[in-house]
Amino acid sequence: MTATVYLITGANRGIGYSLVHRLSTRSNTTIYAGARNPAQATALHELSAKSAAKIVVVKLDSLNTQDPKDVAKQIEKEEGKVDVVIANAGIAKYFGPLTETPLSEFQDHFDVNTKGPIVLFQATHALLEKSNKPTFVLLSTTGASIDTAVPFPVSAYGTSKIAANFVVARIHAEHPKFIAFAVHPGFTNSDMGNEAAEAFGMEKAPNTLEETSTGIVKLIDEGKREEKVKFWDFEGNTLGW
Ligand SMILES: NC(=O)c1ccc[n+]([C@@H]2O[C@H](COP(=O)([O-])OP(=O)(O)OC[C@H]3O[C@@H](n4cnc5c(N)ncnc54)[C@H](OP(=O)(O)O)[C@@H]3O)[C@@H](O)[C@H]2O)c1
Repeated sequence: MTATVYLITGANRGIGYSLVHRLSTRSNTTIYAGARNPAQATALHELSAKSAAKIVVVKLDSLNTQDPKDVAKQIEKEEGKVDVVIANAGIAKYFGPLTETPLSEFQDHFDVNTKGPIVLFQATHALLEKSNKPTFVLLSTTGASIDTAVPFPVSAYGTSKIAANFVVARIHAEHPKFIAFAVHPGFTNSDMGNEAAEAFGMEKAPNTLEETSTGIVKLIDEGKREEKVKFWDFEGNTLGW
């Protein structure tokens, strides 16, 4: 039986690492875990040593357009296909009202949060085509849901994720065999979640990494091609775009 192959970006820590951790107990599974600096991805290497799944730590910087191409070549050679690509890497580094948000912040967030998933999909779609259940998942946010209208001042982050949501909608429209969805992981107590919580006057982000990654893996396991592209939260509720 061929292994189920996952590729997860931003796997060095936070939600990305938690997803790798959750999947690592599965046999007949290969996880390509993207890190900006694989040599320093100590937690991933330690997990790899005791994991039932095969974990391959690969260099993936969302700002580097060559990295996903190199990783796709490696996966093609080693596995011949990829089943699940999770565009998880992301930044949220500016919180403040629209009137004060520097244009450079829009650019910075767009470079990682929007262009990153685009380049990732461009590099991996041919490998996804070879899967029986090709799945592309974007870690998005209610901060990008116009319907939800969160009260937090996240213009640079939110617009970059809205653009990435649109990319997911195009993947759904242009690849009728693919399962492509955006998912809000909750307000999760990773570094990003806790930094945002602090900026918004909260002690820490309320959702745990365990509940978030459990929910996302369940969505992937149970995922099926939907008539309309979906924006889920990690508990399986549909969000408005
Ligand atoms: N936490 C939340 O409450 C929350 C809510 C909504 C959406 N999300 C989304 O969930 C995803 C994961 O967030 P998180 O909470 O786990 O964040 P995090 O704790 O800040 O971790 C971010 C991860 O992304 C990686 N990363 C950052 N810039 C990168 C780049 N240029 N290239 C490649 N990797 C890069 C980081 O790598 P390094 O370790 O090398 O820095 C790290 O592994 C993000 O897309 C985020 O927008 C999170």
